Amino acid sequence: MNSLSVIRASYRRLSPLYDVLEGAIFHSGRKDAVALANKRANQRILDVGVGTGLALPLYRKDSWVVGIDASPEMLKRAKARMRRKRLTNIGGLLEMDAMNMGFADRSFDAVVAMHVASVVPDPMKLIAEMKRVCVPGGDIVVVNHFASSGGPLRMIEKACGPFAEVIGFRPDVRLMHLADGARLQIVQVRRVNLGGYWRLIHFRNAPAEPARA
Ligand SMILES: C[S@@+](CC[C@H](N)C(=O)[O-])C[C@H]1O[C@@H](n2cnc3c(N)ncnc32)[C@H](O)[C@@H]1O
Repeated sequence: MNSLSVIRASYRRLSPLYDVLEGAIFHSGRKDAVALANKRANQRILDVGVGTGLALPLYRKDSWVVGIDASPEMLKRAKARMRRKRLTNIGGLLEMDAMNMGFADRSFDAVVAMHVASVVPDPMKLIAEMKRVCVPGGDIVVVNHFASSGGPLRMIEKACGPFAEVIGFRPDVRLMHLADGARLQIVQVRRVNLGGYWRLIHFRNAPAEPARA
């Protein structure tokens, strides 16, 4: 599967076009995800896979936001946006692997990953790291495309599976697999973005409820 160097190479190529190709079409999902992270005042918020920083202007001004990304070229654009928009609430934009973060446990009150889970080589590891760096009771928000349950879309996704490295995107991340593996409380799952093909999952960083008998 995608190694970090493959991801970096693909986002190096994509970075000049990213805002045009993936800006407006994913904007409503970003707005919904950030609104959940923005619920409380004065929070420390981590934006995982911050990309070119399209979501940065959406965070409330009394929050302290850190963004991480594996791609220096995407980060460069995020930093330019921060300066251009005079975003004084951004505490740092750091080059870091989301599957092996350099933060201490419980460093953030809310952790958000938008359109990242299908790009990283190991989505379970991503969620485990998001959980580790989030305070107990904190909000973890994921926006992603998940494998369809059937029909022609599922057939297309299956056909694309072997080419994940080429297209830089895994169409086969399974929502329930991710949610069960995370062992986190699910607050809500809702459809977002164009045609609802993407989903927003809001987790609470608390142990999943035991299944009822
Ligand atoms: C589809 S873009 C999403 C960017 C942004 N979240 C948005 O909604 O526009 C995926 C981002 O994840 C980053 N990424 C992929 N794998 C990563 C990893 N292992 N660690 C950190 N960032 C990663 C890529 O460099 C890219 O900027």
